[in-house]
This record gives sequence, structure tokens and C-alpha cells, in this order.
Amino acid sequence: MRLASVNTVTLGVFGWSSYEPEEGRFTFDWLDRAMDRAAAVGQRVILATPSGAKPPWLGRRYAEARRIDRNGQREPYGGRHNHCWSSPVYREKVALINRRLAERYAAHPALGMWHLSNELSGECYCILCSDAFRAWLRERYGTLAALNEAWTSSVWSHGYAAWEEIEPRDGAVDALAVDYRRFNTEQALDFLKWELAPLRELTPEVPCTTNFMGLFSGFDYARVAQMLDVVSEDQYPAYDGTSPDTWRSAVAVSMKGDLYRAMKPGRPWMLMESCPEAPSWKQPMRAKRPDVHRTEMLQALAHGAEGTCYFQWRKSRGGSEKFHGAVVDHVGHEHTRTFRAVAELGREYERLGAVLGSATPAEVALVYDWEIRWAFDRSEGPDQRNGAYERVAVEHYRPFWEAGISVDVLDSNRSFDGYRVLVTPQLFLLKPGVAARIRRFVEDGGTWVASLYTGYCDAANRCFLGGFPGDGLGEVLGIWNEECDVLGDAETRGLRAVDNPILRVAGTLRAVEALEVLHARGATVLAEHAGDYYAGHPALTAHAFGRGHAYYLGARLDEPSLDAFYRPLLDKLGLRRNLDARLPRGVTVQRRVHGESEFLFVMNFTCVEQRVELGSRVLRRLTDDARVEGTLVLEPFASAVLATT
Ligand code: GLA
Repeated sequence: MRLASVNTVTLGVFGWSSYEPEEGRFTFDWLDRAMDRAAAVGQRVILATPSGAKPPWLGRRYAEARRIDRNGQREPYGGRHNHCWSSPVYREKVALINRRLAERYAAHPALGMWHLSNELSGECYCILCSDAFRAWLRERYGTLAALNEAWTSSVWSHGYAAWEEIEPRDGAVDALAVDYRRFNTEQALDFLKWELAPLRELTPEVPCTTNFMGLFSGFDYARVAQMLDVVSEDQYPAYDGTSPDTWRSAVAVSMKGDLYRAMKPGRPWMLMESCPEAPSWKQPMRAKRPDVHRTEMLQALAHGAEGTCYFQWRKSRGGSEKFHGAVVDHVGHEHTRTFRAVAELGREYERLGAVLGSATPAEVALVYDWEIRWAFDRSEGPDQRNGAYERVAVEHYRPFWEAGISVDVLDSNRSFDGYRVLVTPQLFLLKPGVAARIRRFVEDGGTWVASLYTGYCDAANRCFLGGFPGDGLGEVLGIWNEECDVLGDAETRGLRAVDNPILRVAGTLRAVEALEVLHARGATVLAEHAGDYYAGHPALTAHAFGRGHAYYLGARLDEPSLDAFYRPLLDKLGLRRNLDARLPRGVTVQRRVHGESEFLFVMNFTCVEQRVELGSRVLRRLTDDARVEGTLVLEPFASAVLATT
């Protein structure tokens, strides 16, 4: 580890059966040794609570700790990440093992952070969890009449006369499905609070985290983040170093970085798991090509991470992940390509200290919201092909990434103050107060970009009456959306740019997948439909509202069409580019700032050499102090961290 400049290790994830091999018999020998050795070389330990996987004795003796699945079956013992959230026995056992860990290591010099459980996921439908759902509904709605009203439960004869009649698995009630996800988030949070209680009591100064999984849709991570001290996330981009399209997946990974960075403003996030080689679940499991791993790690730092960790240090000899990439291979020594790459990066990290604690100022906010995704996914009707909510969010993020413009990715409850541009891809569900905040944002001079499926449903996933976009957003956008048409996979509909004084969109414009038939109610038309029965109806609009502008893209657009809209918009707004240059496709520049110092992460996510023109700027490559000016040449998948001072 010293050879690889490792200064932090995560220990104990899934360690339970070795700490408590039989109920009540505790042995911490190996952990003691590992903690002591870490302390001896000045490493900090992120110590996990072991609840992510239960020991066999627990699963066998306490059946209630095992989940009941959607079919009402108690799951057999096995696997991981599958305990009942409510089980009193499981909670009691977790509290006990956590207390033992906290008591034992509270004063240990290596203890740096708590890592609660691991990759929370799943749901349980046992009596306790189902009753907890009903209690949560009672709290949320107060009366059955209010719940019936909110859920429109008279549809398919679901008018409830008693709380006990509510069946959490009932897929027929779309509002129930959304509420169930909200509830399940609170369940997981409640479980985490329970886990945390003994740790907070015995180690109040030690921060806590749990590792998120990208845009995993099971829990509202924005809500879970509120109870954590540090946000951490697992990323396995596994970029294919041979594919010309790889940069597109890099866009999605960057968006996640911006989401996690922005989750707790002013607080660092970290990459908890990543892999210097290919992860074993990735098929085909291609070897990571030179430089890919380095750029993956620098990409996390570029988006605000304050550290990157690996899963895993060393490959296990057996077990389900024996071929999963690791820093140390089965061969057992350091003379491998992977180890050398990790060690080299470790040495470079030692020169990147100045980046720590720096911020990423962004003028643009983009909304990604779990509740909206749930409502969208659970509503029959809207076009959901290929994970549309997540995918479309990335599609709208891409133009900023390509231009090297920093973005904060936020859930819709967050304040939009201080941003110049707000992008809300498919803002399908409006939480209370969101429409009012957007209205204020535009009135105060902001630029709002909304896309189709905006303002269809309220927080109960009920449609707004009186025309979409609802809750007053039609007025802000100056449009009424009369109906929606969905196209086949290979179908497109041409759009025609319209001359106008606000924004000239130029180039070929095409709607794909889904479009709306709009009426301008005060908005200026930027482009209209060129064919079909909606010919002449607005497709892209802009509305001067208050001191700002509200733009509406009433169709999903293919990539060139999105560029035809965003490029002139970004130019018009004069948003700050991290590097004042047109970047080659597949290259982005992200920026972190520390007082007067500025750090530019220039990254090439393509399998060919790229050249970035630096103009008049004279920069210093942080990793070797080389002076960089003129043209920066980046080998395939290479990146550079450049400083201005
Ligand atoms: C997850 C888990 C790890 C490991 C990796 C493999 O992120 O948290 O325990 O299984 O996947 O990629």
C-alpha cells in the first residue's frame, strides 16, 4: 500500500461472520491487526458497519431478518443487501455489533470515518414493513378520505375504507407506487439512524457516509444524503478504450459527479468504490487500456471528489468476485501493469494536494429528481423507452459538458438562487412550491430551459387540470400543450426554424421519439413542426417573462438538433467556459477554484489523440510542474490537470 501511496482504506464491509462467528461470541483479531497496521503507517480507516450481509447463524435462527418478497415468500438465507428494514431482531443485532465496533475503536488513531452498511437497496413486504407503510401513509395524509382523493383510488374500485386494506404491492395505483418509494427511502433512513445511534453516542466526532450507486432509482438519494456527513458514491465506468462512442458514457459519469458534488453544498464527496481493472460483472470483461483508469480517477476529482478509493485492494482467491479487478492480482506482487498504474497515479496525487478543498462554481443548475423519475416511470402513457428520464437528463447535460461549462445537478427542492441558467429535463412531477420558485427565478432574470413532459402531475402523481404545463408554468413558458404524439424507433419529424428576435436556431432540426403539439400563448416560436397534422404548431419556443426568459423544447430532439438549440443559447448567454476554446468532441474541461488558484482538468475520452488550443493561456501541469502553452496534445484517454498559478 505504501508503494501505491494509499493513505485511506475501507475495512469491514460484510465482515460480520468473522467478528461474530457465533451469536454472542465476538472476535476482532484481524481487524485489530489491520487497524494497528494502518495507524502505524499513518493511514486512515473508513470502518464499515457489517450490516450489508448477515452471518448464517443470524439468517437461520431469526427468519424475520430475511425479507418477504413481492410474492409473499420469505427469502432463503443467502446473498447480501437483503435484510428486512423493520426486523427488531436484526436492528438489535446490528446495534450490538456497531456498539462493539465503536467501543473497540473509538480511540483508535486510524479511525477516520464510518461507512454505514453498503449499497442500500431493496424492499421488504413482511407484516412489519407493510404496517410501517400504512403508518407512514396515515402520517402523510391524516385521513383515508384525503388519501383516496390524492390517489384517485375510485379508479378500478380501490376506494379504501380501512388503512389495513392498503396493499403495498398493488401496482394498479400509480400514486401508491410513488409513495411506496418515498416510504422505502424513509425506511432505509430509519434503519441508518438506528445503525448510527451507537456510533454517534460513542464517536460523536467521527463523520459518517454510506456508498451510493450512481442514479440507482430505489431510494431518493438526495434525501438520504441529508443525514450523512459525507456523500460517497461507487463508480465503475469501465470505459471501453476501443470504442469511438465511449465519450458518451463519460458524459453520464460526469453528470453523476456533479450530482454528488452538489448534494451537500460546500461539503466534499468521495469516490468510495472504483476499479483499476475491469469489474467482473462487466461483459465482455475487456482489460482496461492504458490511461483509462487514470482518466476515470481524475474525472471524479474534476467533478469535486476529494478522494478516490478502490474496490478492491486484492483479489480474493475464491468467492463470487475472485476475478473482479483489484490493485493486487492473484499473483500477489506489485510487478503488474495495473499496480504500476495505480502507484504512478498515487505519486501524482501527492502533487495534487492544492486541489483539495477547492470549489466548483457553476452558473448552471440542472434538475435530476428521484421523485420525478418514479412518477414518470410509474405513469402509463409518457414515452419511457430506454430509461428515458435518466437518459434525457444526460442528453441535456451533454451540451454543457462539451462546451466545458460547469453544472450543478440538483433535486427540484433545492434553491435555484444564484444560478443564471436552470435546465429541467422532463419536469413531469411538480413538488409543492417548485413552480413558484421557477417563476421567481425567471422573473428575477434567470434563463429556464424546460423540455417536453413538463408540469403534467402534482406530488400525488395526479394530472394538473386546465392544461399542461400545470401549476402556472404554462404562463411562465407562454404556451399550452394540447397533446402528445409518440414516434416509432426509426421515425423522425422535421422541424423548421422560424426567424425571431430572441434566438436563432440553426441547422437540421428533428424530433425523435415523442413530441407535443403546442400553442403559443405569448411565447415566441423558435421552430415549428414542418409536417404531419401538427405542421405549423410551435415545437421550440422562448418567452420573455419578467426580467428572464423561459425556453420550451416541446419534443425530444436528436443530438444535432439539441446542439442547434443549445449552441446559440450558450453563446447568447456568454456563460463562463472553463477554457475559452472550442473543444474537440469527446474532450471536456472541468474547473475547480481555490481562492486565486484555478485548476483545469482537461480530459480526453476518445481513443484517438486530441489537441486542445489553449489560446494565450500559459498554464502549469500540476503533476510534473511542466509549463503548458499553445496546443495541449492529449493521447487517447489521457488527461491533464493544469493550474493557473
Ligand atoms: C459493489 C459492492 C462491492 C462489490 C462491487 C463489485 O459496488 O459494494 O462490494 O461487490 O460492487 O463491482
